[in-house]
Formats: sequence, C-alpha cells, structure tokens
Amino acid sequence: PRSHRIAVIAGDGIGREVMPEGLRAVQAAATRFGLALELHAFEWASCEYYAQHGQMMPDDWKAQLSGMDAIYFGAVGWPDTVPDHVSLWGSLLKFRREFDQYINLRPVRLFDGVPCPLAGKKPGDIDYLVVRENTEGEYTALGGVMFEGTEREIVVQESVYSRVGAERLLKYAFDLAQSRPKKHLSLATKSNGIAISMPWWDRQAEAMAAHYPGVAWDKHHIDILAARFVLQPERFDVVAATNLFGDILSDLGPATTGTIGLAPSANLNPERQFPSLFEPVHGSAPDIYGKNIANPIAMVWSGALMLDHLTGGQGAGRAAHDAIVSAIEAVLRSGPRTPDLGGSAGTTEVGEAIARHIAGGA
Ligand code: NAD
Ligand code: IPM
Ligand code: MN
Repeated sequence: PRSHRIAVIAGDGIGREVMPEGLRAVQAAATRFGLALELHAFEWASCEYYAQHGQMMPDDWKAQLSGMDAIYFGAVGWPDTVPDHVSLWGSLLKFRREFDQYINLRPVRLFDGVPCPLAGKKPGDIDYLVVRENTEGEYTALGGVMFEGTEREIVVQESVYSRVGAERLLKYAFDLAQSRPKKHLSLATKSNGIAISMPWWDRQAEAMAAHYPGVAWDKHHIDILAARFVLQPERFDVVAATNLFGDILSDLGPATTGTIGLAPSANLNPERQFPSLFEPVHGSAPDIYGKNIANPIAMVWSGALMLDHLTGGQGAGRAAHDAIVSAIEAVLRSGPRTPDLGGSAGTTEVGEAIARHIAGGA
C-alpha cells in the first residue's frame, strides 16, 4: 500500500511545543503497526509567517495541501502581533471551509487517574462526543458596522444555516449515535430565544430522527445544556450543535474532565474529497508558551484520530489509534503529568512516556 501523506503545520505558541510530542507518538505507532507515513512540514499558517509576508499563508496553499491525506495541525494565534480574526480567518477557518470539513468531532472523556472537578464523578460518567457543525452558522463574514463613529452606529452579523449543512451534520450525528451502545443524541438548541433559525434546526432534527427509530433523542436549550454538562454529564452520548454552541461546549466538556489540555478534535470531510484536519481543541496558549509545560495529550490524541481516519477506522490505523489511546490511559493513570493536571512534568517528559508505552506495547 502507498504511504499516507500528512501535512504537518505546528502554527504558533504551544502548537510548536506539543507538535513534536504528537509526532513522536504518531511515529511510534506507525512503526509498530507498519503504517507508512510521509510527513511534509509547513512553516506557514503562523503569525511569524504573517510578520514576514503580510498574510498567513502563501497564495498557493490550497494546491500545496490538496494532495495530502490529512493535515496535522497545532494551533494558530498570537494576538500581540496579529489580531485573532485575521490569523484565524487567514488559516484554520479557511481550511475548514475550503476543504469542506463540515464535521468537527470532539470527544470528551474522564480518564482513570485524573481528578474530576465535578464532585462524585468517575470514569464512565463523562464519555460523550460533541459533533459540531464546522462551516456555517455564526461564523460568517456577512455583515458590517454602519454609521461608524456616530450616535447611530450599529453592527450587524448574520448567521447562515443551509438545509444541506444541517442535514449532513444531523445525519453524521445520528449515524454515530446509532453505532454507539447508548444510542442517544442530544441537540443543542435555543429555539425559545433565537426564534427563526433555532426552531428551524429543531424541525431538521425531528425530520432526521424519523429515519433513526433506534436512536433516542432529546433537545436542550444551550443554557441548560451547559448546566447539565456540569451537573448530569452521564446523560450525554452524542451531542449535535451548531458552530458556536459546539465551540463553547467543547471547551466546557473537557474542563469538566480536568483540563482542556486533553481534548482532541477531528475536522472531517467525510466524503474524503479533501484532506481532513486533526488538531487539539485548545489554542496557542501564549500565557504558558516557551516553558515546556503545555499538556501534549490533546495533540497526541488528535494524532490517534488521524491515523484511524487514514485507514477508514480499520486495520493498521485503527490498531495504531487504539495503542495511542491505551498509552494515554496508562500515563494518565500512573505516569508523569503536566501542571494543568497538578503535576510538575514537562511537555517533553509526558510525550516521551507516552511514546515508550506505544513502542513497548504496554
Ligand atoms: P487557549 O486554548 O490557547 O488557552 C486557554 C487557557 O488554557 C490558557 O490559560 C492556556 O494556558 C490553557 N491551555 C491551553 N492549552 C493547554 C495545554 N495543552 N496545556 C495546558 N494548558 C493549556 O485559548 P485562548 O487563550 O482563548 O487563545 C489563545 C490564542 O489561541 C488566541 O490567539 C486564540 O485565537 C487562539 N486559539 C486557536 C485555536 C486553534 O488554533 N484551534 C483554538 C483556540 C484558540
Ligand atoms: C476552536 C477555536 C476556533 C473556533 C477559533 C480559534 C476560531 O476556538 O477550534 O475551537 O472558534 O472554532
Ligand atoms: Mn474553541
């Protein structure tokens, strides 16, 4: 079989510190299971590149990435030098849109050995997947500021949802729910207050649910959904959400499992017309950059999701995924941990411990 081509984009801040540990794990697993990987590192999609070129990426970025099987991505953003909306709309959000990565799959799981900030919760009580719509919704460039500088100044920004966009998100989420033991789906809504688009989403979900008689589903207004993530996380299995709701839920969920430094994500183009992108949920964390204290596990776990995706959820990629997740479990149970988990180990030390487990088959 031919080798899998992976674009490696570390980006900014701790993206540069966790990427080497992610690659260490990915390469250890690839070696153990005989997966041939071809890694192509790109220095662009970073605020340093912006400082030199006045843009985040070269004009031919899409051509450079189109032949890749996946993109392994660290984090982008350095707000002291480039405004966040410029750096993110110039890189990550472009990838998601132009490569039609309309699913953002974000697992949330409480691991054995990790102190839970919620009282009385044990592993198994928090184990769900946020399925975030990743190309539409509140993330638009439609709108503007009018009458600027006058007393009549107003700002308008539209949210856009397409029928195709809602249906494909819901179909993916219901399929996923159907494949899991609990067979449950929760829809994040706000159809009481956002009285046009959200009742429409409720109706789309109702229509899709009719095709999945084996899946139990419910809907929660986003405010109480956030509260239930904290108070009753065991209620959740698959959580479908629009772009902004999903963004917020996918930091909140991981926070209830001890740290956002664990949370991975898969930005998927399920049809495989374009490369999918795998990255931690967290950002570039300028406040801790350069200290070798960032938790590399979100990056490592994202690498596992990538290898699984490369071989379609079976074979060597699946085995590599499982070995990486087992190594994460082992290290979280009794290995070194970074300060966000109450430890004093460095990024590198945790990465090396994980890679040793992967290589050793432990
Ligand atoms: P952030 O996720 O970078 O950091 C939030 C907090 O969590 C910080 O206190 C940080 O130190 C901590 N943290 C994050 N990752 C950690 C890890 N692996 N280990 C330990 N602690 C960790 O969010 P922010 O501060 O809102 O944003 C910082 C920059 O990152 C901004 O430029 C923002 O736009 C960007 N950002 C990028 C992405 C991305 O590339 N996908 C995601 C979120 C934020
Ligand atoms: C994420 C991030 C991005 C988002 C930002 C950096 C634009 O927070 O991947 O969760 O909002 O999607
Ligand atoms: Mn986010």
